[in-house]
Amino acid sequence: MMDQAQALRRLVARSNSSASSVDDPSTRQHRTRVITVTSGKGGVGKSNFTLNFAMMLQEAGYRTLIFDADIGMANIDVLIGSPASVNLYHVLSGMKRLEDIVQIGPKGIHYVPGGSGFQDLLNMPEESLESFLSELENWAERYDVILFDTGAGLSKETIRFVMAADETFVITTPEPTAIADAYALIKVVYGMFPDTKFRLVVNRISDWAEGQQTAERVTSVARRFLQLEIPVLGYMFDDPHVMQAVKKQTPFSLLYPNIRVTEQVRQLARAYMNNGQQPKNDGGMKNFISKWLKRWT
Ligand SMILES: Nc1ncnc2c1ncn2[C@@H]1O[C@H](COP(=O)(O)OP(=O)(O)OP(=O)(O)O)[C@@H](O)[C@H]1O
Ligand SMILES: [Mg+2]
Repeated sequence: MMDQAQALRRLVARSNSSASSVDDPSTRQHRTRVITVTSGKGGVGKSNFTLNFAMMLQEAGYRTLIFDADIGMANIDVLIGSPASVNLYHVLSGMKRLEDIVQIGPKGIHYVPGGSGFQDLLNMPEESLESFLSELENWAERYDVILFDTGAGLSKETIRFVMAADETFVITTPEPTAIADAYALIKVVYGMFPDTKFRLVVNRISDWAEGQQTAERVTSVARRFLQLEIPVLGYMFDDPHVMQAVKKQTPFSLLYPNIRVTEQVRQLARAYMNNGQQPKNDGGMKNFISKWLKRWT
């Protein structure tokens, strides 16, 4: 009998061999950008960034899906104020289909609630795994951007999301501990996967100078010790409205559409879609899945 690892290897091989035909740019209108949002230190604003960034992408006309990938912790649905009763677990155990658990959030974003891990896929029989993955792949086609909001730090799960995504957004704040942890994360991930495309987001700055100094502290060490250039995606101001919005379980960009930090995320989303590189041929959800599976084999 074939063991699980063998079965997964076969799946990967199959998905790789079909990649070139399916991903032929001449036959595809657009490519989904798959982004993992992470941080070294916890509580730096990943989930708030992910949610409001997704909403601003959606506002600008880009179909966006968030995967709450923080294993064990539900973040996104709490910030939205509508706790979901279904999650990936129900799909993986065959009780629901993916389309039954995808939630519609503010501005029309879609999100998949957390609460159960992708790692449960490991325990699925090959047939169910295969049908889930092809369902996921087909479903993902409809989005321009897919964001994975991860937990803080370098868990095995987070590393897997980072190495499978097209790009990794690292969030930090000006706090020295957050800066040190952001660099530590970049260093470890870069050591393991030198192809990772990082972008830095500096959150909770009190003025532009602090933002630039913070970014410089991360980027200069990466340049010096890793010979790695890390582009800065953008800055977000520290604003007490963010905490108030969290308490009201309403995204800050919805509750306070005109405050500076909302405008910053709006600009950041637009700039990203206008200037960001198109994902390469080996990007998108299909490749996310195949890279993600590979780590197990
Ligand atoms: N720009 C900001 N201005 C003021 N407060 C902020 C800002 N961003 C985040 N916060 C505060 O930080 C808290 C944590 O934010 P959030 O939950 O988004 O962080 P996280 O990185 O996702 O945390 P975790 O690592 O636990 O997943 C928020 O509840 C809010 O109080
Ligand atoms: Mg979070």
